[in-house]
Amino acid sequence: MSMFTIRIPATSANLGPGFDSVGLALQLYVTLECEPADEWNFVLSEQDAPFIPNDKNNLIYKSALFTAAKFKENELPPCQIRMTNDVPIARGLGSSSTAVVGGIELANQLLNLNLTKRQKLLIACEIEGHPDNVAPAIYGGITVSSYDGHNLESVRFSKGLENVTFAAVIPDYHVETEKARAILPTQLPYKDAVYASGMANVLVAALAEQDWQLVGRMMKQDKWHQPYRGELIPDFPKVSEVLNKHKALGYYISGAGPTMIGMFHTSTNFTNLITDLSQYNIDLLQADINGVTAVNSAPLNQ
Ligand code: HSE
Repeated sequence: MSMFTIRIPATSANLGPGFDSVGLALQLYVTLECEPADEWNFVLSEQDAPFIPNDKNNLIYKSALFTAAKFKENELPPCQIRMTNDVPIARGLGSSSTAVVGGIELANQLLNLNLTKRQKLLIACEIEGHPDNVAPAIYGGITVSSYDGHNLESVRFSKGLENVTFAAVIPDYHVETEKARAILPTQLPYKDAVYASGMANVLVAALAEQDWQLVGRMMKQDKWHQPYRGELIPDFPKVSEVLNKHKALGYYISGAGPTMIGMFHTSTNFTNLITDLSQYNIDLLQADINGVTAVNSAPLNQ
């Protein structure tokens, strides 16, 4: 087995009303340099080590083994995986999806499975439960997907994405997705659901037309999850106000939060915005349009 490198993009889910369905891949990456070893071992940065297991409890390994089992393989040849992680953990930028998609790609490479993107997405949905983060991590661009536990549909948009920049405003606290989902109602009145799905429909139509003004307006119209998550992300109203002042086309809580994203024309000068939000870490990101990639690479010591 030769050495190879897998790169998985961060993602931002929901984009406002596209709850559990719409997601965007971003040019912020997890990179896995994989080489044969005597036993499984993940080499992590000092910053990641407290949060990510370095052995077979690692979600990347577990997802790889899950994938292998789908093809009647019970073992994976042991590897050392050197992980470079630019995706902040538990901040709403798809860190767990990068692990799931990275693990599926790892099994794909180690066992020469030749998986199609759709096969990867089906496995990823089985692991993750919903497609909004894993689909863009696999396909790149913006994906609109539905998955009911069996049936999967996914459509990808990538045209014109270079014209918008996503300002990720990242607070320094974690929000666990499980907790952010537990806070949501178990039922929504029929009329409200019709209204909420209409907003999501217009969001998707606007994405298809690359009508960024309308995309931005619809991002602000979510009725599915943001109204319920305020107590976990108390900064959202204040950050929204600043994003509005600086002429964001739209803004929303990224995934389950706490990262908040403002969408801007790429030509925007961000200097004053960064000054006004100086208490946060801000990443100005373009969309990734490739999704997960794997390339053969030379051994590290050459
Ligand atoms: N759609 C998901 C949520 C994304 O908002 O809970 C995080 O997994």
